[in-house]
Amino acid sequence: MLTDLRNISEKWGEGIAEVQHDLSENALFSLESLAELIRQNPDCVSEAATMNNSREDASTWRDAGIANAPSNELIDAIQNGSIWANLGKIGERDSRYQTVVDQIMDQIENEVPGLATFNRQIGILISSPNARVFYHADVPGQALLHISGEKRIWLYPGEEPFLNQRDFEKVVTHSTAEEITYDPSFEKVATVYDLTPGAGLFWPLNWPHRVVNGNTVNISATVEYSTKTTRRHFNVNYANGMLSHVFGYRPRSQAVEGPGFWSKVMMSYALRRSGIGPRLVQSMSKTDTRSNTAVPETTS
Ligand SMILES: [Fe+2]
Repeated sequence: MLTDLRNISEKWGEGIAEVQHDLSENALFSLESLAELIRQNPDCVSEAATMNNSREDASTWRDAGIANAPSNELIDAIQNGSIWANLGKIGERDSRYQTVVDQIMDQIENEVPGLATFNRQIGILISSPNARVFYHADVPGQALLHISGEKRIWLYPGEEPFLNQRDFEKVVTHSTAEEITYDPSFEKVATVYDLTPGAGLFWPLNWPHRVVNGNTVNISATVEYSTKTTRRHFNVNYANGMLSHVFGYRPRSQAVEGPGFWSKVMMSYALRRSGIGPRLVQSMSKTDTRSNTAVPETTS
């Protein structure tokens, strides 16, 4: 649960909300418990990647080929290599983890007037000493609750040029992985946090970020959630992305209300529910070697 929500009602949706939590003292989140979770649910490791940890270069991000390895081998590789592993949606595997994320989001809803969240998910990131997660933006509402080790996170405003709209629409339509354009000049607006166990951050929707671990194995929890507002932004970004990148028409509006918005909502639902949208994206990705339809659930 959260032990300190500070001024979350003032920050929510507008800026970065710092919180404190007790997951570091919860046995469910020890390395031993997580190794057992993997043993019981071998397919819960949704991604295990490796990277060049010496510089900010997303092109060095690679599948490490060990997501399906026995848990002891995966943990050993994390402890001794340059690996980032994501245990996705673990609340669906073990209800004790879902109870934790539901409790946390209930606490926040009690503090933030009018807030109603759904699609609450908790994931676990286990990563090597000095591992990096390169500059990216996540699609759903997102938080990072740090549990073990030390890491530094840089956060950037969710607007141009930091969040390149065309790049992000490709992320939303799964035309690419979570790659968005990074420029070192962005550093002058970055907000930087050194996270230690017990610290957590909730940031506004789609704010880009990057992470560098300290010289320790890191365990963090990710929290994902949706609201009516995040769902509206998702549908507009999805429809705009399909119109632009698949149908060749560049829509100008990112409005989340009005007749144009509702047309995009209908388009988004029709394309996704029919399966036509994903098939169109897949067919286009065959001619684009940078594309990757296997989008990670989270990369915080
Ligand atoms: Fe992320």
